[in-house]
Amino acid sequence: MAINLAILGFGVIGSGVAEVLTENKALIESRIGKEINIKYILDLREFKGHPMEHLVVHDFNIILNDPEVSVVAEMMGGSHPAYDFSKACIEAGKSVVTSNKEVVANFGAELQHLASEHGARYLYEASVGGGIPIIRPMMHDLQSNDILSVSGILNGTTNYILTQMIENGVSFENALADAQAKGYAEKNPSADVDGLDAARKIVILAALAFGTILRPDDIHVEGITSLTLDDVRIAEAFSSSLKLIGHTEKVDGKVLCMVSPRVVPKQNPLSGVSDVFNGVLVDANMVDKVMFYGRGAGKLPTASAVVADLIDVWQTNPADVKEVVWTPANAENVADFSDYACRSLVIFRGNADSAPALSAHFGGAEVKAFPALGMLAVMTDKMTEAKADARSESASLPLVKRIRVLD
Ligand code: HSE
Repeated sequence: MAINLAILGFGVIGSGVAEVLTENKALIESRIGKEINIKYILDLREFKGHPMEHLVVHDFNIILNDPEVSVVAEMMGGSHPAYDFSKACIEAGKSVVTSNKEVVANFGAELQHLASEHGARYLYEASVGGGIPIIRPMMHDLQSNDILSVSGILNGTTNYILTQMIENGVSFENALADAQAKGYAEKNPSADVDGLDAARKIVILAALAFGTILRPDDIHVEGITSLTLDDVRIAEAFSSSLKLIGHTEKVDGKVLCMVSPRVVPKQNPLSGVSDVFNGVLVDANMVDKVMFYGRGAGKLPTASAVVADLIDVWQTNPADVKEVVWTPANAENVADFSDYACRSLVIFRGNADSAPALSAHFGGAEVKAFPALGMLAVMTDKMTEAKADARSESASLPLVKRIRVLD
């Protein structure tokens, strides 16, 4: 007997899931030993002339009330109604797989809990890193380790934009338009360029690493809109690349989670991750550093991860699986951002004559002068946010910006 599936949302990723299931149908069916049938596609649009047009429905209740549908793939994007539909499906005993990081980051703990209660599964491999296997390795393969930190280039659109700006001199606007045309960007690309998409992903990785789920809106988030080609050149002079990095670690036993542009030294493997590619570097106490790399956005890579979750559901009995359930953040388990410590590259206006005094102000730190830009940059020692801000602001030169370093 065939297993029946419903696809919620037939946009870039939803249509990609249909494509993966069609193109690799025989292969997947041979692996799971069952026939797969896409029974419904839920969307507001009609898709006239599409070979799957006859599967399109506009009423979610048709899917919810059909006992033959045991699993749904939610690729609607946005919190509502995606969360509401996912919750209703799980409460009806249907498993849900999703690429929707907004729902996973904001409602994942509740949906995991409900799934455990109702003998269903809630899986989200595609929510972080597009096609890169990262959720399942964190959930299973790294369980023998104490995770020390996770750092990642988690947004394909911004990495694509930065790469185009750095390597090809393409303007920010043109690079963003290109990323949108390629299907990488969010519906509202502010979520990409202002860092919220990466924030949703790093809180998911932090939850897998440390068991605590923070709210993306509550963590420190900076995007890439303030970065300039001058910053890129200055970072290069310190043998580093500029990247948008999501980072999580424990500070005094509490979870710290943040997104910001970083100066990434060339010896860090994340510095070589370019274009739409994502990279996630996990530092763990037994295995040491492990790097995950691949396409972080795009139709088929992301759909490949959604279908991997479907296969997981089809190959297991939900009742036999003990799902991970995250603990919501509270004042006791979340670190104070001002206690976070790292090195920084601090850029000032000024000329080379000021270099010795600037170095002395930062305890003898390395200073480079950029006469053509009328700027100086200092590479500080590791210090807390509070101390780095105070030291940068009390220098005698006009401060341009401070960019954190990812060592
Ligand atoms: N807009 C996201 C990105 C899509 O660019 O990475 C994948 O989550």
